[in-house]
Amino acid sequence: MNNPLGWIEKDLAHIRDKKLFRALTELGTGQSPDITIDGKRYVLLASNSYLGLSVDPRVVGAAGRALGKYGTGSGGSRLVSGSTDLHRELEERIASFKSADAAILFSSGYLANIGTISSLIGEGDMVYSDELNHASIIDGCRLSRADIRIYRHLDSGHLESQLSSDRNRKGKRLIVTDTVFSMDGDLARLPRLVELSESFGCMLMVDEAHATGVLGERGSGATEHFGVEDEVPIVMGTLSKAIGSLGGYIAGSQGLIDFIRNRVRSYIFDTSLPAASLAASIAAIDIIENEPGRREHLWRLIKMFKSGIGDIGLTVLPSDSAIVPVLVGGAGPALEFASALRENGVYTPAVRPPSVPEGMCRIRATLMAGHTEEHVEIALRAFKSAFETCMK
Ligand SMILES: Cc1ncc(COP(=O)(O)O)c(C=O)c1O
Repeated sequence: MNNPLGWIEKDLAHIRDKKLFRALTELGTGQSPDITIDGKRYVLLASNSYLGLSVDPRVVGAAGRALGKYGTGSGGSRLVSGSTDLHRELEERIASFKSADAAILFSSGYLANIGTISSLIGEGDMVYSDELNHASIIDGCRLSRADIRIYRHLDSGHLESQLSSDRNRKGKRLIVTDTVFSMDGDLARLPRLVELSESFGCMLMVDEAHATGVLGERGSGATEHFGVEDEVPIVMGTLSKAIGSLGGYIAGSQGLIDFIRNRVRSYIFDTSLPAASLAASIAAIDIIENEPGRREHLWRLIKMFKSGIGDIGLTVLPSDSAIVPVLVGGAGPALEFASALRENGVYTPAVRPPSVPEGMCRIRATLMAGHTEEHVEIALRAFKSAFETCMK
């Protein structure tokens, strides 16, 4: 009889043919600058734990104490199984960190985006989305059933012309963007987006996943960096990157947060974060606020790495964050480049479609505050050797 799942093998063969098959690499350590794979040491250049906080003893200690007090799981949705002082405290800390009236937690950034976007807008409404927005934003837009307009990456002129041509449309309108783009590391021009949202009467939502902890004097993110904290009404972020833990959040007015608590399905119908993650995030925000030196060190390393990569002759996309995308081209060459890096003691995988457009495969190198200049030197030597082996 015909196997109803037989198509899966064909699909997998197609993925393999295109050199797009994905497999896991098991690390023997946490997200530290030095990791092990099969007992061998590598420099980790692929973590979003930009400040190294997921392995900071103070963060780990706070998580351990919360684990001892509350146990492993939260038992269910907060609306059903109850909330804790840690949920409340973390929401208050996020609100003050993001200079907002209030904040609300989700179990992941992905859930924060899909649930919030699809509740803010619906059929008959309109959403304007940067073409390089994260998958969770794209999925939130699709789930909303609103009409979607994709504007060219960072092209506010293109966005403005879309907004103008829709001027007489009925329904709500939302502009949504990453602040730091996850694969390119560049920055949305928030002041211009604020102007456009105000002059066209649109809601504005930004995703601070890769900006939180890295940008701004207090490390609050791109809204702080651009001085538009009071002008962006819907701010999303994740606790899983520089904050080193797990979870997502929305920060904004008390009304927005009450609306989310009452309307957003990925909040209402999802088990809440466990205590250990909450306590880890609180401890990490303390460190981000009190130790600006970590961020300063990270920025020194970013500059050193980017300048070294340029000297090698590799093409780096113009990023403004801890994400340094080194362009390689096709999927096959990108895999070879990543494997040459690994032979030279550096772990950072090739990024291929659908994460990036075809022909734009890259090594997405990410720096962490725990790296030293010596780590960067090792990384640069590995990139030079990979360049000579694979691209000359
Ligand atoms: C820009 C952006 N938004 C949202 C997310 C989702 O966040 P999380 O990993 O917490 O689900 C990510 C993570 O990959 C991201 O890069």
